[in-house]
Amino acid sequence: MFPRVSQGSGLHATVQKFMFLFLILCVALARVTDAQRVFAHFMAQNSYSYAESDWTSEMTTAQNIGIDGFALNIAANDYEVDRIVDAYAAAESLGFKLFYSFDMTDTWKQSDMVNIVANHSSSPSTFLWNNTILVSTYSGESYGEGFWASFKSALQSQGIHITLAPAFTTYRDPSSAASLVSTFPSIDGFFNWWSWPADVGANLTTATDLAYQAAVSSLSGPYIMSVSPWQFKNFGGASDWVQYSDTLWNYRWQQAVNDVKPDIVEIISWDDYAESHYIGDINPKVYLGTQAPFYVDGFIHAAWRDVAQYYISWFKTGSAPTIMKDEVVFWYRVWSKAIKCSTGTLPRNAAYPEDAVFALAMLKDTATITLAIGSNTVNFTAGPGVTMGSVPFPPEDSQVPYIAISKNGTTVADTHGSMYVNHSGCTYYNFNPFVGSITE
Ligand SMILES: *[C@@H]1O[C@H](CO)[C@@H](O)[C@H](O)[C@H]1NC(C)=O
Ligand SMILES: *[C@@H]1O[C@H](CO)[C@@H](O)[C@H](O)[C@H]1NC(C)=O
Ligand SMILES: *[C@@H]1O[C@H](CO)[C@@H](O)[C@H](O)[C@H]1NC(C)=O
Ligand SMILES: *[C@@H]1O[C@H](CO)[C@@H](O)[C@H](O)[C@H]1NC(C)=O
Ligand SMILES: *[C@@H]1O[C@H](CO)[C@@H](O)[C@H](O)[C@H]1NC(C)=O
Ligand SMILES: *[C@@H]1O[C@H](CO)[C@@H](O)[C@H](O)[C@H]1NC(C)=O
Repeated sequence: MFPRVSQGSGLHATVQKFMFLFLILCVALARVTDAQRVFAHFMAQNSYSYAESDWTSEMTTAQNIGIDGFALNIAANDYEVDRIVDAYAAAESLGFKLFYSFDMTDTWKQSDMVNIVANHSSSPSTFLWNNTILVSTYSGESYGEGFWASFKSALQSQGIHITLAPAFTTYRDPSSAASLVSTFPSIDGFFNWWSWPADVGANLTTATDLAYQAAVSSLSGPYIMSVSPWQFKNFGGASDWVQYSDTLWNYRWQQAVNDVKPDIVEIISWDDYAESHYIGDINPKVYLGTQAPFYVDGFIHAAWRDVAQYYISWFKTGSAPTIMKDEVVFWYRVWSKAIKCSTGTLPRNAAYPEDAVFALAMLKDTATITLAIGSNTVNFTAGPGVTMGSVPFPPEDSQVPYIAISKNGTTVADTHGSMYVNHSGCTYYNFNPFVGSITE
């Protein structure tokens, strides 16, 4: 019936088919264990007045732009463990993930940390790295290797295995990367907190990322890269600073997707209002203290999430996503940097930010972007994809920016910013930007 030769090739084809399926399976498995994840740093301290519905609403907002979970920055306050019970309930019903980022600037009892990790260790929302619970920190190197080794072994004796990827913040210099690993044999990965220039008027480079990523590459845990849009705090004295962040939200993401390609991106932050890098909405239930309201109230950052959504998709798929509708996201401070305000003090590094309105165009096809404020107008043509532009503040007082998208000489969308840029009448030093957007 069938000649031998075709039987042979039939078998050969079957083997090939199996090998092909096996290959597909291997690729699929590799993607499951190596999938790029994106978390946002969430200040659990802020949840004092939260109901479960607050968690659900913020997690849904985060999930809608591709964020996989929150890194819970937990301080040693009693109420936080109770709020975290709600956070887990909300996360479980959404399929959202959580891991702890212990704020080690607080004084922690190791047994409390062990109990906190153990408490929700079997929740489906506990984020696992290679089947172990990922645990991170803010700082904590001063507790010493012995503390971290015994923290891990205390959990291990309860059958709980963790992957420790702390942000030991004194490790920033690329040349200290090898000593991090030799000084702390109990760490499995690393979280580089430093996502802003270090008190300089220059853009951040990837030198720290690449050095620490290489240093932990032979360990079992992840290299977590921080990506942040801004940094400004004004609490008085040593806590008054701004870092040069004018175009950071664009170029830092490009460093992540093109150059560093970390295991995990951690956005700093979801809700750290006092440092002006929140991308979540301002939840009115959060008590902001006495000074932060002067520079946070009304300074919405929601449109920064649209930029995040674009780059998160790029990070996860490995290629720039197709843009479906034209959008311009813009941000600007409302006072010129030379302003004299009646209270507070000028922040450190105040000379570095440019007095300008910044705009990031995310376009599906070529358009002309108009940025105007007072007597200044800048037009630039941008092709499909992402392009940044800016227009300097004008000398006149009390001006509102105008942003337009036009195609072939016809304006297809335009808007004004919702806040004035003023050169006089300042009552408190504020370098936090207002963020808006316009969509065709
Ligand atoms: C553990 O979870 C329970 C609720 O399931 C909560 O009452 C308790 O405070 C939690 N303890 C810690 C240490 O997280
Ligand atoms: C920082 O990078 C932006 C592009 O993202 C560039 O326009 C700007 O000039 C750079 N700033 C400095 C101080 O080099
Ligand atoms: C995952 O964990 C297993 C069991 O501890 C270990 O043998 C393996 O090396 C780990 N995988 C990676 C990629 O670190
Ligand atoms: C910018 O473009 C607008 C709209 O197309 C046009 O009216 C204006 O003259 C242009 N301004 C400059 C400075 O090129
Ligand atoms: C800036 O100027 C506008 C127009 O004069 C005024 O309405 C607004 O209150 C000023 N903004 C602040 C924060 O003082
Ligand atoms: C602009 O005009 C050119 C030439 O008439 C045309 O090919 C192009 O499709 C137009 N672009 C848009 C966005 O309408």
